[in-house]
Amino acid sequence: MIDTGANASAAGADEGATVRAFAPGRVNLIGEHTDYTGGLALPMAIDLGTTVVGRRTTDGRVVLRSADQPEPADVPINVGDPASVTPAWARYVAGVVHELAPGAGFAGTVTTTIPIGSGLSSSAALELAVALALGFDGAPTELAALGQRAEQLASGVPCGLMDQWASAAGLDGHCLLLDFTAETAVPVPVPEDIAIVVVHSGQDRTLVGSAYGDRRAACEAAAASIGPLRDAELDAVATIADPVVRRRARHVVTENARVVQFVSALRDGDTAGAGQLMIESHRSLRDDFEVSTDALDQLVDRLVATPGVHGARLTGAGFGGCVIALTEPTALEEGWTVRACSGARLLTDPINASSS
Ligand code: GLA
Repeated sequence: MIDTGANASAAGADEGATVRAFAPGRVNLIGEHTDYTGGLALPMAIDLGTTVVGRRTTDGRVVLRSADQPEPADVPINVGDPASVTPAWARYVAGVVHELAPGAGFAGTVTTTIPIGSGLSSSAALELAVALALGFDGAPTELAALGQRAEQLASGVPCGLMDQWASAAGLDGHCLLLDFTAETAVPVPVPEDIAIVVVHSGQDRTLVGSAYGDRRAACEAAAASIGPLRDAELDAVATIADPVVRRRARHVVTENARVVQFVSALRDGDTAGAGQLMIESHRSLRDDFEVSTDALDQLVDRLVATPGVHGARLTGAGFGGCVIALTEPTALEEGWTVRACSGARLLTDPINASSS
């Protein structure tokens, strides 16, 4: 499926060598809606991702075609407001162009193996692959921060840093214990005797901007009342007067604790314990944070009742999309079994004109 860049030359790209950049999607094992509160999360980059192939041009435009999209992204390198660009997918390209301010144009193609709108961070992968293709040259954390700013500009959703950080810093065979206060990423080996399976709920996820923003605002209100949620105890949470804000804060505080316990369980080989923590995480997202849906709840219940499944929970923001299950290797016949993979990078192997 990977386009060779031949289209790029046909489109008038006339300068520089062919560039090929790749960025993976991600799943989050546990630690949901914690990133924008300075909390903890445990995502991993996966073996589904997005590739951008193309060349620098001299026409001052970034032009990308995608086999999955009827309209190309065609963005001037001095783009104004990324959110006003059409078609909608081009906004993410425009967000990156806005933040990176590349000195030259680019023409190429985008291909992806990430199902779009599933909560597997297809937009973060697009942002990071585009940034690398356009010449971004910096540390993974800087790449992640650029992608986050691009995402916020493009979508208007005040997302956290987890998706872009996981995609930028992924490590083969490992998930990453991300600490959004200390700004550290600690690799944690994913045990080889478990499978991580992603199953779509059948309900497309729209990252409902207002609902995500409301959750974030509630967490900020809680922190204004009792201090940073990262350091808060449940006793303090119980003093929050507003019952909705109190429940949102309770999710964040208990979820941070579950991340720590989950890492211990993985390190101890306690797969059953890790699975139980995923089930508790889902309940907390359903009841306290209220970002689950009937389709997600029913899927989690069905998967958890399947022999060989240790635990399951929604992954990503919620409001539809995918469930992630921790299972014995052959327990599930549905979904995608994903592996923990390396993060965003330029691909240097030669471009073969007949590669597929
Ligand atoms: C989305 C956001 C992330 C994070 C998750 C919830 O994926 O982009 O920053 O907040 O939701 O954990």
